Amino acid sequence: MAEVIEIHALHRRVDLKQECCELMNSQWPRSNTARLHSLDKSKDELPYSMVMTERCGEKEIVLGHSRLCKVIGIPHAVLVESVVVDKKRRGEGLGRKLMDLTEEHARNMGSHTMYLCTKDKQDFYQHLGYKYCDPVNTLAAQMLETCDCPMIGCDDTSSQGKTSCSTKCAESCNKESKMPKELPTNESPVPPPPPPPPLPPLTTSQGVVVYWLKKSIL
Ligand SMILES: CC(C)(COP(=O)(O)OP(=O)(O)OC[C@H]1O[C@@H](n2cnc3c(N)ncnc32)[C@H](O)[C@@H]1OP(=O)(O)O)[C@@H](O)C(=O)NCCC(=O)NCCS
Repeated sequence: MAEVIEIHALHRRVDLKQECCELMNSQWPRSNTARLHSLDKSKDELPYSMVMTERCGEKEIVLGHSRLCKVIGIPHAVLVESVVVDKKRRGEGLGRKLMDLTEEHARNMGSHTMYLCTKDKQDFYQHLGYKYCDPVNTLAAQMLETCDCPMIGCDDTSSQGKTSCSTKCAESCNKESKMPKELPTNESPVPPPPPPPPLPPLTTSQGVVVYWLKKSIL
């Protein structure tokens, strides 16, 4: 009989909650009560916990979890956190499947950009098309439980980043408009500047290094 991979809203499949709790606690140990309390927050708006299952006939097992959370101040943006695949089933393409299904759901909710934060899975996410970015402000339910550090998105660094960026852009535009339209023929054209280096990781107040990444999911 063929196995079918499915994704469910946890709040619509409360029968899967305990198994999901055990899966998450096997990765990030917490008390059962605390974990269930955070999973209970899942709702049709955000935070929205998704549980990935494999069904074979009557049998259904939990294989993974992800959670979408609100990003403050950026239209059509969403954050994904607590992405985990059952340890016994890693390396089979299920992490990619979980992220694909999570992005699909986020897109259907009207999101255009997905953000995330990680302390050590940046290569995995880059492999899936995510690029380094500035931190964002979020209402993540368990923000960085995956990183074991407190929320670091609430210091408004993202808006500061935007201000300085747009200032730089304006300066650069002004400079360009003052340049001669055509270079003298005896001078070779100025080569374009090299691409900026990837954004460095951030260190939180607890000394934990984290990486922020984002991807267009349109
Ligand atoms: C990260 C995690 C979800 C990946 O799940 P997975 O099922 O093992 O990943 P997949 O098998 O779907 O891998 C998909 C692709 O990513 C690659 N990949 C997987 N883990 C990777 C890693 N750590 N670094 C770089 N690439 C990685 C695979 O080689 C595969 O490439 P391919 O599709 O080109 O062959 C899983 O390892 C996990 O649950 N880890 C613990 C929880 C965790 O740290 N979550 C992230 C919190 S930020």
